[in-house]
Amino acid sequence: MKYAFSFLVVIGLILIAGVGSQIPGMQYFFGIALPYLAILVFAGGFIIKVVDWAKSPVPFSIQTTCGQAASLDFIKQNKLECPNTTPEVVARMILEIFTFRSLFRNTKAEIYDGPKITYESSKWLWIFALMFHYSFLLIVLRHMRLFLNPVPAWVNWLDFGDGIFQIGAPNVYVTDATILIALGYLFGRRIWNRHVRYITLNNDFFPLVLIFGIACTGILMRYLLRTDVDIITIKRLALGLVTFSPMIMTKLGAIFYIHLCLVCTLLIYFPFSKLMHMGGVFLSPTRNMKNNSRAVRYINPWNNPEIKPHSYAGYEDEFREFMVDAGIPVEKELPADKG
Ligand code: HEM
Repeated sequence: MKYAFSFLVVIGLILIAGVGSQIPGMQYFFGIALPYLAILVFAGGFIIKVVDWAKSPVPFSIQTTCGQAASLDFIKQNKLECPNTTPEVVARMILEIFTFRSLFRNTKAEIYDGPKITYESSKWLWIFALMFHYSFLLIVLRHMRLFLNPVPAWVNWLDFGDGIFQIGAPNVYVTDATILIALGYLFGRRIWNRHVRYITLNNDFFPLVLIFGIACTGILMRYLLRTDVDIITIKRLALGLVTFSPMIMTKLGAIFYIHLCLVCTLLIYFPFSKLMHMGGVFLSPTRNMKNNSRAVRYINPWNNPEIKPHSYAGYEDEFREFMVDAGIPVEKELPADKG
């Protein structure tokens, strides 16, 4: 029950924010100090990690290739699977980032009686991963209505599109349902799929449970606990946070502070976790390099110049006697007087 720990931590955070924020004076900590701290840790941690990765030398051409490399004119190159030029790399990256192309190729191995092993295409992870990431992105973009004044037209369009089915009052957002469904699948597969369960760590469960907590508290605020949520005060606070003049006009219910505290925890946790794949995907040499090692010579920058190249012929000249003694075949026989 590795996931129990993640639930305990998130429940602990909910209790701390729920009870703490209702103590007089503590709203300033949960509403102002904590968000600023979280942004600082997130931005600082993110930049340090990305700069560190960007500075790492990449002496070899190590991209993952899944198709024919550029070769002779009459052999057709697979430009997306084995990019050879910058535009080809960019095209592959764009498809990877927006459509999770490598996940699309996901396969699952099954062992049957016989014994017989089969490899089948497995698209579920790809579908639910896309559903999760796009729902999350849309929700965050829609939240910009709290941070921007006047609200830009594109935010209103997103809001309209997401609530297109006009169900209920307030209007139910499609992304609120899809993020919960996708999180349910991503969590469930880590429990029910024994292969995935075996390699799952607390660090895999925690972000899922935390984001589930953020989504549930947001949904509670919007659809069930509206009386606890004074949107005017929240918008003033959010605008104040981005313009460095934050203020809390009236007392806000615990549910808002719980939502905000979980979001801050996510921001603080982000740079130290696997969630950094968001920045890392751009810096992954297996994705962002060209497969041009037939045309370009890659030289390892930390090669020791003192070490001179040693050809096989030179090696054999040096060790021929020992090789012959040991019965190892040689290309050039020993001179007759030494044989
Ligand atoms: C990682 C970032 C965040 C996520 C994933 C998230 C998620 C959600 C979700 C799923 C909802 C339900 C309604 C909807 O979909 O809009 C919601 C509502 C809400 N969130 Fe967030 N949230 C985030 C950040 C924030 C922040 C930073 C604030 C405060 C400044 C905030 C304040 C609110 C409020 C006030 C509502 C209720 C909106 C309404 O009544 O229409 N959220 N959130």
